[in-house]
Amino acid sequence: MPSILLEAKQICKRYTSGEIVVEALHPLDFKLFQGELIVVLGPSGSGKSTLMNILSTLDRPTTGSLFFNGQPLTDKTENELSLFRKENLGLVFQFYNLIPTLTALENIQLIESHSPSPVKSEDALRRVGLWDRRDHFPSELSGGEQQRIAIARALVKRPLMIMCDEPTGALDVETGVIVLQALEEVHHDFGISIILITHNATIAHISDRTVRMSGGRVVDISTNRQHLLARELQW
Ligand SMILES: Nc1ncnc2c1ncn2[C@@H]1O[C@H](COP(=O)(O)OP(=O)(O)OP(=O)(O)O)[C@@H](O)[C@H]1O
Ligand SMILES: [Mg+2]
Repeated sequence: MPSILLEAKQICKRYTSGEIVVEALHPLDFKLFQGELIVVLGPSGSGKSTLMNILSTLDRPTTGSLFFNGQPLTDKTENELSLFRKENLGLVFQFYNLIPTLTALENIQLIESHSPSPVKSEDALRRVGLWDRRDHFPSELSGGEQQRIAIARALVKRPLMIMCDEPTGALDVETGVIVLQALEEVHHDFGISIILITHNATIAHISDRTVRMSGGRVVDISTNRQHLLARELQW
C-alpha cells in the first residue's frame, strides 16, 4: 500500500467581501498517495482551483488542516511554506507563466539553480521534446510548446508532486494530448505524484483515481481500472 503524501482533513474555504459570502469549499477530505495521478474533475465554479490553491499552500483554508508526509502544514509561516513549495512542489497553470525575457532553457535553468537536487535543465527540456527550441523566447513558441516548457520547469526541481490547473485548457485537442504525454512521462519516469485539474471528462481516463467536484463538494472518488494513455483517449 503506497503511503499518503498529502492529506487534507475537513478543509473548507469561505470568501467574504462585505456582505457577500461565498462558500467555495464545504468541508472535505482529500488524499494523494505516493506516485499516483489524480484527476480533479468538475464544472466551472465547482471549487477545483480553490482546492488546488489550498493543497499547494498558495492559499490557506478557512478551517481544516493539511498534512505532508504526516507533518502538519497548516501552522507553518509563509516563509516555511514558500520553502516547502520550493523543495517539493511543481506548479503548472493554464497560461504558462514563463518569463518572457528569458529563453526556454533559461526559464528552466533559473529554477534548477535554486533547487537542492535538480534534474538537469538540458535533460528536462529533452524529456518534453524541446531541446532544439532551447534558445527561443516564449513568444516564439506555440501554446503547447510553452506548456511543455512549464512542465520541464516543474520537473527540474525533482519535486515529489506536480499540481496542474487546466494545463490543456488553452490548447486544441492534439496539442493537449502532447502536453498530457509530457506529464505522463514525468509521472512514470520520475515517480512524481500528480494532481491534474480539468473540466474535461475525457482527460479523467488517464488518472489512477478521479475526484469529482460539484458546488464546492467532493461528490465522488473513483479508482480508474481502465487506465488509458493520453494518446489512446477518444475525443
Ligand atoms: N477570491 C475569491 N473571492 C470570492 N469568491 C471566489 C474567489 N475565488 C473563487 N471564488 C468563488 O469560489 C467558487 C469556486 O471557484 P473556483 O475558481 O475554485 O472554481 P473552478 O472549479 O476552478 O472553476 P473554473 O473551472 O471556472 O476555473 C466560485 O463560485 C467562485 O466564484
Ligand atoms: Mg479554476
